[in-house]
Amino acid sequence: MAGNSFGQLFRLTTFGESHGVALGGVIDGCPAGIELDLQKIQEELDRRKPGQSAIVTQRKEPDTVEIFSGVFEGKTTGTPIGFAIRNTNQKSKDYSHIKDSYRPSHADYVYDQKYGFRDYRGGGRSSARETASRVVAGAIAKQLLSDIKITAYVSQVGALKLEKNYDQLDFSVIESNPVRCADMEMATHMEEYIKSIKKEGDTIGGVVTCVIQNVPIGLGEPVFDKLHAKLGEAMLSINAVKGFEYGSGFDGVAMKGSEHNDAYNPDGTTKTNRSGGIQGGISNGMDIYFNVAFKPVATVLQAYDTINKEGEKVTTQGKGRHDPCVVPRAVPIVEAMAALVLADYTLLARSNKI
Ligand SMILES: Cc1cc2nc3c(=O)[nH]c(=O)nc-3n(C[C@H](O)[C@H](O)[C@H](O)COP(=O)(O)O)c2cc1C
Repeated sequence: MAGNSFGQLFRLTTFGESHGVALGGVIDGCPAGIELDLQKIQEELDRRKPGQSAIVTQRKEPDTVEIFSGVFEGKTTGTPIGFAIRNTNQKSKDYSHIKDSYRPSHADYVYDQKYGFRDYRGGGRSSARETASRVVAGAIAKQLLSDIKITAYVSQVGALKLEKNYDQLDFSVIESNPVRCADMEMATHMEEYIKSIKKEGDTIGGVVTCVIQNVPIGLGEPVFDKLHAKLGEAMLSINAVKGFEYGSGFDGVAMKGSEHNDAYNPDGTTKTNRSGGIQGGISNGMDIYFNVAFKPVATVLQAYDTINKEGEKVTTQGKGRHDPCVVPRAVPIVEAMAALVLADYTLLARSNKI
């Protein structure tokens, strides 16, 4: 299986399956001398962990990170940072019903076809449990980027959409509600809605909005490695992501160029920011903002029709502990992937000019 690494200079490789011994990663290329706050890494993991509220999977797992290398006396040494999170609460029996059949819209069928064999327990490598390793690496990247501020929040659940722009919202409320919505009133509606979906044994999608502030000018490598292209790749690599748009995104197509253009102020900042902080693939110093769309995930706790390995029609019943809506737990994953891109491009930008 190729494709388990991300980044050029700040490079993360992850390993592990949902019901294996552990998941983890190696970060290659992290500069020496960063004072690492290990508590902050654990706090980021706690934002992603299962069982944190009534509207996420009830799998209870502490997700404690162990760091094996690359850190000495509280500082990064410049050598590979190896880390792992042990799996401690697997119920592999819950997955015996999908050993020989395929959950519609999950990765079961394509894994079997591609590899001829699959670890079906908990979805194996296709499980979003893999993203715990991204969150650890992202928390380290955030500490490298101390001046750059990355904030994500839930802006839509099903048809419930927060119509306010990020600059009209109070980011301090995001962590005070289980949905991680940046508006308390909307958070209550979203929470109730997710609970009703859960009661039906169904799932629902949502949108995570991410804002990156205090970005220096000059991050991004034209032509193929444009900053927004790498952010898009990072976000689209997250499980269950179906869409990515930055700046004016798809709404921009309905505007004329004369309306859409971001006029300059004398200091080079712009009066509007429809470009989303990136022009020509390079950060322009304005805020970067983007939306990431998550589908309603595949595992519904209802009876459903599917096929088995022999291609025969079977009816099966979804079971196990699953997320009715993944966006509350996806918020720290989106931030982590953004931090990995920004860390990598910050190091690459050191070769911009003499
Ligand atoms: C935080 C998070 C939690 C997830 N939890 C579940 C889950 O409980 N059940 C499920 O079927 N899919 C879940 N997924 C999505 C699957 O991992 C994903 O749909 C699957 O790997 C197939 O990949 P694709 O949807 O990107 O095509 C979750 C995704 C994320 C980001």
